[in-house]
Amino acid sequence: MNKLATATTEILFDPVLDESFEFLQNPYPLFERYRAVSPVAWSGRGNQWIVTGFDEANQLLRDNNFGKKLELWKHPNPFMGGLMRFIRSSTTKNMLFLDPPDHTRVRTLVQGAFLPSIIRALEGHITEICEELTGDIQPGTEGDLIKQLAFPLPVTVIAELLGIPPADRDQFKHWSTVITASLKGNVCPFTAFKSFKASHELRNYLKKIVCLKRTQPANDLLSSLTQVQNQQEGRLSDDELLSNSVLILIAGHETTVNLIGNGIYHLLQAPSQKQLLIEQPQLIDSAVEEFLRFDPPVQIVRRICYKETLLGDKTIRAGEALTVLIGACNRDPRVFSDVDKLDIERDKFKHLSFGGGIHYCLGAELARSEARIAVSMLLRKFPDIRLQAPIMKYKAPFALRGLQELQVIY
Ligand code: HEM
Repeated sequence: MNKLATATTEILFDPVLDESFEFLQNPYPLFERYRAVSPVAWSGRGNQWIVTGFDEANQLLRDNNFGKKLELWKHPNPFMGGLMRFIRSSTTKNMLFLDPPDHTRVRTLVQGAFLPSIIRALEGHITEICEELTGDIQPGTEGDLIKQLAFPLPVTVIAELLGIPPADRDQFKHWSTVITASLKGNVCPFTAFKSFKASHELRNYLKKIVCLKRTQPANDLLSSLTQVQNQQEGRLSDDELLSNSVLILIAGHETTVNLIGNGIYHLLQAPSQKQLLIEQPQLIDSAVEEFLRFDPPVQIVRRICYKETLLGDKTIRAGEALTVLIGACNRDPRVFSDVDKLDIERDKFKHLSFGGGIHYCLGAELARSEARIAVSMLLRKFPDIRLQAPIMKYKAPFALRGLQELQVIY
């Protein structure tokens, strides 16, 4: 059973350090209990603040008194803290871990590839990929939707966008699974080492491709980043180019797999919502926003406080760490009604699943497009699609929330 302090001010089960099977399967009841302690509660176990309030998280993500120097977190276990810094040392140049002015410079150079007009232009091709992936599936047959559609779609799209062979996608899956396994506060040394090694292998792989793009540029993101380097010497270092390519490759598929997987899972558990979406396919935009609110693929974002700040009714001191539980904020009853109900007709803009402020997800529009196209096509082709069993298992780590598999009857 998950523990919570009875002393009402302190959380005992820290979601960054602790991961029980029960918690992974359904963390939401525990989140509610955290919020009952306080929307900004202290975790003595994790030596950090836990934020479960929507407005408090919104303030935190937009306030430059908080930043990304997470190596300042005083990990309750110094050995673990050292391990985490070791893992992080391979990612120091990616924008997700930078503060301004470096963050602004790097993000500005990369974001041109993610403009809404560019993503809209990709939609025809995303539809073709979905058609191809679902082409051999016969209605009434059984299969794992993650394996057949939710995984291969984003990995193909992101590989093509970057300009790397989709044929290597199984290798990416391996690297990505090993790297993301270390996304928790209590990581064993073996996992940490494997993650560090996988990061290096992926970087070396990309290094070779980047060299090729320098001499033979094509119409893809890696080519345009090398062109930016050529034209504006010193604005994007080799290290930054590689680190951010690794980030985009991993962020660009692991999360979108889970948006499609979690979304379909919950839709199939709510037959009236599924029927509504079949009858009114124009609801797909708000349906995808509701999937994001209801069971976010990214559950955690973290910050360090640089300057004493009032957050909610708590004073956060310089040097203290904070973890926002996105899934909890998205179910804050002070902001949403009927929080535990999947309602695809909700106000579509209210959730924190893509973060907020300067680190707002760069790939949000791409992820939305892929999910809208995949879900719409599935319901059009297989209106009788249903779950093979009522409950499916979620996998670790909790930070990236997704199903191990999604067995359906098409
Ligand atoms: C459903 C899918 C996705 C979800 C839920 C998601 C979620 C997030 C979140 C919460 C952040 C903010 C992290 C923070 O504030 O610390 C973020 C940042 C980021 N995401 Fe996504 N993401 C998704 C898909 C994508 C895709 C498809 C790409 C790229 C192709 C991408 C690239 C990035 C990048 C580069 C950042 C860092 C932005 C920065 O630091 O300025 N994401 N994402």
